[in-house]
Amino acid sequence: MKTPEFKQKFIDRYSDLTDFEEFKKYSLKMQTKSLRVNTLKVSIPEFKERMNLKLKQVPWCKEGFFIDEEVFGIGNRPEHGLGYFYVQEASSMIPIEVLNPKPGDFVLDMAAAPGSKTTQIGAKMKNEGYIIANDTDYTRMSSLNANLQRCGVRNVITTLMQGRFIRGFEFDKILVDAPCSGTGTLSKSPRTIKTWNPFSVRRLAGIQRQLIKTAFENLKAGGELVYSTCTLEPEEDEGVISYLLDNFSDAKVSKIDIDLKRSSAVTSFGKKEYNPGVKNCLRIWPQDNGTDGFFITKIKKDL
Ligand SMILES: C[S@@+](CC[C@H](N)C(=O)[O-])C[C@H]1O[C@@H](n2cnc3c(N)ncnc32)[C@H](O)[C@@H]1O
Repeated sequence: MKTPEFKQKFIDRYSDLTDFEEFKKYSLKMQTKSLRVNTLKVSIPEFKERMNLKLKQVPWCKEGFFIDEEVFGIGNRPEHGLGYFYVQEASSMIPIEVLNPKPGDFVLDMAAAPGSKTTQIGAKMKNEGYIIANDTDYTRMSSLNANLQRCGVRNVITTLMQGRFIRGFEFDKILVDAPCSGTGTLSKSPRTIKTWNPFSVRRLAGIQRQLIKTAFENLKAGGELVYSTCTLEPEEDEGVISYLLDNFSDAKVSKIDIDLKRSSAVTSFGKKEYNPGVKNCLRIWPQDNGTDGFFITKIKKDL
């Protein structure tokens, strides 16, 4: 597919946020493929021996590896069907590294399909404790169920509903991997360049505010929530965190201590000044580490 032209509005907006030419160059470049070994099914040394691939460690995820050679159809290998690995973009592994669920935890994955992160949660929990994996999309839900089964995640209940209707729980840990405008993943879906518009960014930010509010209300005191998106739109990122901090005095953004290049959080955008608490949000541009762009925030609820 021919790469669509960037809209002038998009260029102006992103030139205010970063070096647009660098952003464009890295956004359109095909990135090195990566996978995550599913330790519920196989150990890392056994996997390496069996697959015989040139693998390079993803620095921020022990089970994550870049595939350092040209391979086709890795998803057709029998080991994929056996659930030995999940093809997952390297920056998409960060939210669960930051959430760090432990065996025995009670965890909500609020927008879970198709399950790259739920299966990562399951592996970290060693199938001990409980996960509720929710999504609102029926078709994506079947991929979620298939991936959970393939990867041998057994401590999970899947639910099909709008996240904002979840009520009355006290989770230890919650992931809100929100539906978003996806401007961090243009190399995979260049169509976004064509479909992007400020109105849909505003509409998505409304859904994201509902989801983060509900998630926070279902978090136990002392619990931790990770909010992530694969968009670089401040309204959907720092804007959503700022909304939470302005409305819940017991929400605090924690520093994220992880080994990668990051960019400063956006503290104001257009006429909007964000809550100063957003300064600890993790914003990753495609040009920072040669991965997809991602936004990740860790929030703790005061005891
Ligand atoms: C970024 S994707 C999630 C990817 C998934 N966490 C993974 O790592 O495989 C966002 C998901 O949010 C779901 N979604 C959209 N609106 C929602 C809502 N109101 N409540 C819950 N999920 C929603 C979409 O169907 C989509 O699957």
